[in-house]
Amino acid sequence: GAPATGTATGAPTGAPPTARAQQSAYLTNATGTRLRDTDHSLKAGSRGPTLLQDHHLREKITHFDHERIPERVVHARGAGAHGVFEGYGTATSVSMAGVFAKGKETPVFVRFSTVLGSRGSADTVRDTRGFATKFYTDEGNWDLVANNIPVFFIQDGIKFPDVIHAGKPHPDREIPQAQSAHDTFWDFVSLHTEAQHHTMWNMSDRGIPRSYRMMEGFGVHTFRCMNAEGGTSLVKFHWKPKLGVHSLTWEEAQMIGGIDPDFHRRDLYDAIEAGAYPEWELGVQVFPDEPDQMFAGIDLLDPTKIVPEEIAPVQPIGKLTLNANPTNFFAEVEQIAFHVGHLVPGIDVTDDPLLQTRLFSYVDTQLSRLGGPNYNQIPVNRPHVPTNDMFRDGFHQHAVHSGVAPYKPNSMDGGCPFAAGTDLSEEQTRAFVEAAVTVAEATKVRENPASYDDHYSQVRQFWLSMTPVEKEHIIRAYTFELGKCYEQAVKERQLQSLANIDPVLCQEVATGLGLPAPEPTIPLQDLEPSPALSQIKGPFPPD
Ligand code: HEM
Repeated sequence: GAPATGTATGAPTGAPPTARAQQSAYLTNATGTRLRDTDHSLKAGSRGPTLLQDHHLREKITHFDHERIPERVVHARGAGAHGVFEGYGTATSVSMAGVFAKGKETPVFVRFSTVLGSRGSADTVRDTRGFATKFYTDEGNWDLVANNIPVFFIQDGIKFPDVIHAGKPHPDREIPQAQSAHDTFWDFVSLHTEAQHHTMWNMSDRGIPRSYRMMEGFGVHTFRCMNAEGGTSLVKFHWKPKLGVHSLTWEEAQMIGGIDPDFHRRDLYDAIEAGAYPEWELGVQVFPDEPDQMFAGIDLLDPTKIVPEEIAPVQPIGKLTLNANPTNFFAEVEQIAFHVGHLVPGIDVTDDPLLQTRLFSYVDTQLSRLGGPNYNQIPVNRPHVPTNDMFRDGFHQHAVHSGVAPYKPNSMDGGCPFAAGTDLSEEQTRAFVEAAVTVAEATKVRENPASYDDHYSQVRQFWLSMTPVEKEHIIRAYTFELGKCYEQAVKERQLQSLANIDPVLCQEVATGLGLPAPEPTIPLQDLEPSPALSQIKGPFPPD
């Protein structure tokens, strides 16, 4: 686990550690009194009624009754591991973040997950996978909360509850447990056609990975990075697995789901246990930070779009190695709390409206999931640097703060380092400063820009890039999943979207469903990169 060093937490001087000494020679109750017997309740005679005065019985049962915490509202099912990230030094012209410095080693914890299933659901279902990394950097924690699919279902975070309500089991029957084969999912994605791109990735072999070790990861959003000179670039983050990208076949996924529902969790644990440490390279696509935040006609703030790697190559900037399994699943995998707002100097957010909502949502959900505002004191969440946040008290407060003046500037706690005129140069040079971006003067509206309107051409591009066998898998996936729907109107509406993506795909799925194939309602666009586009390179200097 993460060391306790450097945090404001700790017991009063001289007090023993709070860790429970489970290996000690004797048993105690929660307050340290030794016990002779924890196997028999206190009774009036050996057959008599149990006595209310048995505090140990009540304490033991009460604690047990409160062992469960709520599972994550999404991404409830997961597995994780500790590791190290080593910077290559190739990103310094783009970001001043110390984590990218050449040879710099930073401890990390990674949690992989499925999205829709509950905590006990099977690993091999067709779903998006989470790939969340917490970097315990010298400048504070940086969380890269990524998925294995480079686009998202929606363009605006206000629709997140809607897409999750549609994807989770039906409220009446509470089925299906963890997959997209049901009416509300297809109802949503056929009514919200911006979801068609993510959905096609789900229906492809990417939706059923062979192993967490063989998945890519994508930050999805465009971030804004800053170098030491204050220059900014727009950046998309990519994880590339050293073992390559591999998938199960649908038949394998189905069988393994029955035989070993913990398949991915077991695979990750066993590989690390055997010393076959999984590795990924972190890479970036870098774009000039132009006022319109577009690149090659693609809106960089639209999370349903990729930028093809052919026109913006992914540049490697560091290597991740997972080399240690958790020793306590609850303390590490369950209690870890990621947040896209956990940023370090040199990495900032953009105005992507999905990212903006995420900045609010993660803290909010963790307040209830982890029981109050002090969850960053939980060992796995603690930064590996000293904290001085002036946050006080609250549920599950473990720190015993010294000092009397939790505000700045103050003149009572050993001087006044933040007073006006104080020389901050030494202490503050590594402080996080938001990029000084101009916010356009604009009218308040509830609408998307026109650049978000094209919901189909990148889906078609994805389809056309597939090999024949991959196309066959996609056709069979759509046919199987839609075949589970009860509502004919939902199937017909989704077929209309498929007609707008590709006539062959639509015809094949329609035949499988025993329905007529509709005509497209928009002209098909192939989005061939023009020769001019393929000349464009990011400002990233080659190593
Ligand atoms: C988990 C909200 C979009 C990746 C979560 C959680 C919430 C949430 C509430 C549970 C967190 C917890 O209990 O600790 C949202 C909202 C989104 C959004 C409101 C859109 C507005 C995304 C996107 C990605 C993503 C685009 C990928 C790029 C993840 C991952 C986790 C997660 C990987 C699991 C983290 C873990 O392993 O603990 N999300 N999410 N989410 N989300 Fe999102």
